[in-house]
Amino acid sequence: MSGNRTFTMIKPDAVGAGHIGAILNDIAAAGFKIVAMKMTQLTSAKAGEFYAVHKERPFYGELVEFMSSGPIVAAILEKENAVADFRTLIGATNPADAAPGTIRAKYAKSVGENAVHGSDSDDNAAIEGAFHFGGTEVFG
Ligand code: RTP
Ligand code: MG
Repeated sequence: MSGNRTFTMIKPDAVGAGHIGAILNDIAAAGFKIVAMKMTQLTSAKAGEFYAVHKERPFYGELVEFMSSGPIVAAILEKENAVADFRTLIGATNPADAAPGTIRAKYAKSVGENAVHGSDSDDNAAIEGAFHFGGTEVFG
């Protein structure tokens, strides 16, 4: 059974370029309800922990440095089939491969600086949401 929540971050490139409002508008227009949200900045230790699954990948150091380089907007989103539908909305990891109209096609700069994060499974959505939000910060 697919779950109804996913976790997202608007990454430092998109925050820096002034795209928070446009991206939140696309998310709302696609039928997602925001049940938790905050603007924050990850330390490199926290970014390293969040992306620990990619520790052995060649881009890990760059990814941790980028994700801690400036503020992000973290949010938990609710919708039927949230994980899969959100990944459809954001498009492929590399914006060059992202379908037209997707968030990454519109706002991402490169495969590394790709505007948004989206959870890849229901289990990871729950883990990632709990990483950023306490119980009193989640509504709905
Ligand atoms: P995300 O976790 O951020 O939603 O992205 P994703 O599932 O589409 O991609 P994933 O394979 O989980 O990679 C996580 C993030 O690492 C950076 N990356 N850089 N330089 C590269 O080749 C490369 N490959 C991945 C991206 O920021 C990607 O979103
Ligand atoms: Mg991923």
